[in-house]
Amino acid sequence: MKAVCWHGTGDVRVEDVPDSKIEHPRDMVVRITSTAICGSDLHLYDGFLGPFMEKGDVLGHEPMGEVVEVGGEVKRFKPGDRVVVPFTICCGECFFCKKTLYSCCDNTNRNAELARKAMGHAPAGLYGYSHLTGGYQGGQAQFLRVPNADVGPIKVPIEVPEQVLFLSDVFPTGWMAAENTDLEPGDTVAVWGCGPVGQFAIRSLWLLGAGRVIAIDEVPERLRMAEAGKAETINFSKEGVYDRLMEMTNGRGPDRVVDAVGCEAAGHGAIDAVLDKAKAAVMLTTDRAHALREAIMCCRKGGTVSVPGVYLGFPDKFPLGAFMNKGLTMKTGQTHMPRYMEPLLQRIANGEIDPSFIVTHEVPLEEAPKMYKTFRDKKDGCIKVVLKPWG
Ligand SMILES: NC(=O)c1ccc[n+]([C@@H]2O[C@H](COP(=O)([O-])OP(=O)(O)OC[C@H]3O[C@@H](n4cnc5c(N)ncnc54)[C@H](O)[C@@H]3O)[C@@H](O)[C@H]2O)c1
Ligand SMILES: [Zn+2]
Ligand SMILES: [Zn+2]
Repeated sequence: MKAVCWHGTGDVRVEDVPDSKIEHPRDMVVRITSTAICGSDLHLYDGFLGPFMEKGDVLGHEPMGEVVEVGGEVKRFKPGDRVVVPFTICCGECFFCKKTLYSCCDNTNRNAELARKAMGHAPAGLYGYSHLTGGYQGGQAQFLRVPNADVGPIKVPIEVPEQVLFLSDVFPTGWMAAENTDLEPGDTVAVWGCGPVGQFAIRSLWLLGAGRVIAIDEVPERLRMAEAGKAETINFSKEGVYDRLMEMTNGRGPDRVVDAVGCEAAGHGAIDAVLDKAKAAVMLTTDRAHALREAIMCCRKGGTVSVPGVYLGFPDKFPLGAFMNKGLTMKTGQTHMPRYMEPLLQRIANGEIDPSFIVTHEVPLEEAPKMYKTFRDKKDGCIKVVLKPWG
């Protein structure tokens, strides 16, 4: 089968790899019909998880398709079912899965010892996301082996358009980011980053009762898409974010803030961002955390900091003094996917949201190498790429 394989920083290739097959009675194999590129894939593309990658690793964690084969213990699916597969792999039975903390599943990270050394405990296995999260083959391929098939994937009716693909990650991730703000009705929420996660966070915030949403980015078409989602916007390469936000909130600051940027934040000359860049270049820091620092500095006293943005290690200059003295709360995590997929499918069916607004590029899988670059460089108006493994 054809698959998108990682070969090093800035180097992904479409190659022939062995077909996915059933390896355990709880597995199923899905023939992938649509599969997206995520901002998280860029962290791999840009080498942030290089030490935990191997040449030839198959990337991708936002797939949907048709079940072609099920193992003997799979109960919920049969060949021919149309399914969306979440990026988290969960057992459904451990302490964490029972609490619906699915991305903390105790049983699916096959490299738990390595993860424990890096993080103290091992989070769940994830598709196509380095050996730190289990070394599973990813979904940017013609077929995908889905372990623990009964936990996570959802069945979607044949008449529902392919837009449900975004239930595999970015819609639930934007939703959990909004939920994690713990907002009160009418609150003002500022969202850093207008990529797919930020866009879904903006729309979810409205559905959860925000009074005002302010979105921050520098890419014109992403800011326009945020405005189409009824957010007010700040272009951080043209205006000082802190000053503008204080102006907009009479000096109090937004009640809740969302960091939908993560570890590759741009900073345009801000001293902390310059230092991050220099240190990251010589491997002295793992993350460039400018957006998170700024969000903490801007948040009103007693507010909440929601962090869907991915961090990897030990970011520098975390403003713990501001965080502590302003009495802030932080909520974060890889999304607990199975908690959100069915309810959000229902919201799509009710017409509350149509996730297809996010797609700017739909191309055959063969074009993945070119599209990784276009997406990373934010060229050609690129916001979300859907790959079609069968042309
Ligand atoms: N928690 C989860 O489960 C989960 C799931 C999916 C993605 N993510 C993470 O969410 C983040 C966003 O994902 P995405 O797909 O939207 O990625 P993306 O790369 O398309 O979007 C990031 C956006 O942040 C903007 N940005 C950069 N520096 C900024 C700054 N200083 N201030 C404001 N905006 C800035 C960029 O211009 C870009 O538009 C990534 O870190 C990704 O890994 C997390
Ligand atoms: Zn993703
Ligand atoms: Zn579990």
